[in-house]
Order: sequence, then structure tokens, then C-alpha cells
Amino acid sequence: MAGDDAFIERLSRQAFADFDPLAGPHTLSLTQGDGVVTRVAVRDGERLGFVVLQFGPSVGWIQAIAVSPSERGQGVGRTLVAEAIRVARRTGVRRLRLTTAQANVEALELFLKCGFAIERRVPRHYARGQDACVLGRAL
Ligand SMILES: CC(C)(COP(=O)(O)OP(=O)(O)OC[C@H]1O[C@@H](n2cnc3c(N)ncnc32)[C@H](O)[C@@H]1OP(=O)(O)O)[C@@H](O)C(=O)NCCC(=O)NCCS
Repeated sequence: MAGDDAFIERLSRQAFADFDPLAGPHTLSLTQGDGVVTRVAVRDGERLGFVVLQFGPSVGWIQAIAVSPSERGQGVGRTLVAEAIRVARRTGVRRLRLTTAQANVEALELFLKCGFAIERRVPRHYARGQDACVLGRAL
């Protein structure tokens, strides 16, 4: 939808700046291509957050998820994850995965509460050397 790209670019730049100095264009590029589904959460015409999903034959990945800073802590993230799970089930993949920083307490809490478990840790995964972990959930 018109305006979604600008919203995703702006929010990504803000939300992922610690991990990727080019997060805006990088996240936007993730929304292009085959097997990608992007959902934007909207309330009263205002964009609140987004999730970008990428599907392979048996596994789906949450490539990016973010909620506007002023809207966090109100269940928008949970709604986006629930939508991601719904889309993944419809697509037919067996598992949904994502990578997040090991220090990202908000994201870890959100995903653990949504039924994900830590599958493995990835030392120094991000450009600035932060460790990551891969989380997964059966569908
Ligand atoms: C991670 C993020 C998407 C969560 O979105 P949100 O809308 O704030 O999440 P919700 O309000 O749906 O919260 C769901 C759960 O997450 C956890 N959570 C959210 N914010 C938290 C915080 N500041 N501290 C601890 N736990 C938190 C809580 O367990 C919460 O459960 P509860 O509702 O039972 O309390 C949001 O913080 C964000 O956009 N962060 C920046 C981008 C990012 O880090 N993305 C993840 C990278 S993969």
C-alpha cells in the first residue's frame, strides 16, 4: 500500500540502528522478491508496526519486526507475531524462525511468550559484534 515503504524504511532506520547502519534500505530490500510477505499493523489509519516474512519450502523466517517506539508495550508486537504464525501456517511451512540479538530483552520476551524457543546462539553475528540467537517454533 502507498506509504508502507516509507514507514518501513523510517522505522527500521530507527529500530535497527544499533545493528545495521543501513537498516532502512536493507529492511526495505527484504520486502522485495519471491516468497516474501509483509504485514503492516494499522490503527485508525495510522501505521504502528510491521513484520517481514520470507518463506522457503519447509521453513519460514521472520526477517524483520518492529513497532513504533510510542506504540510499544501495548500488544502490537504480539498481534504481528500472531499474524506471522497465521500466514506461515497457511503457507504450509513446518517451522517459523528468526534471528535476534541476545541482548534484545523485549524481542526475546515477546517471542518466548509466543511459543518460540532458542535453537542456537550465533556469536558476533551483527556488524558491531553483538551476539545473536536463532529462535524457532513448530507450526
Ligand atoms: C520487540 C518489539 C517488536 C515488541 O513489540 P511490542 O508491541 O512492544 O510488544 P507487545 O506489547 O506485544 O509485548 C509482548 C510481550 O513482549 C514483552 N515485552 C515487550 N516490551 C517489553 C519490555 N520493554 N521489557 C520486557 N518485556 C517486554 C512482554 O513480555 C510482552 O508481554 P506482556 O504483554 O504479557 O507484558 C518492539 O520492542 C520493537 O519494535 N523493538 C525494536 C525492534 C526489534 O528489536 N525487533 C526485534 C528484532 S527481531
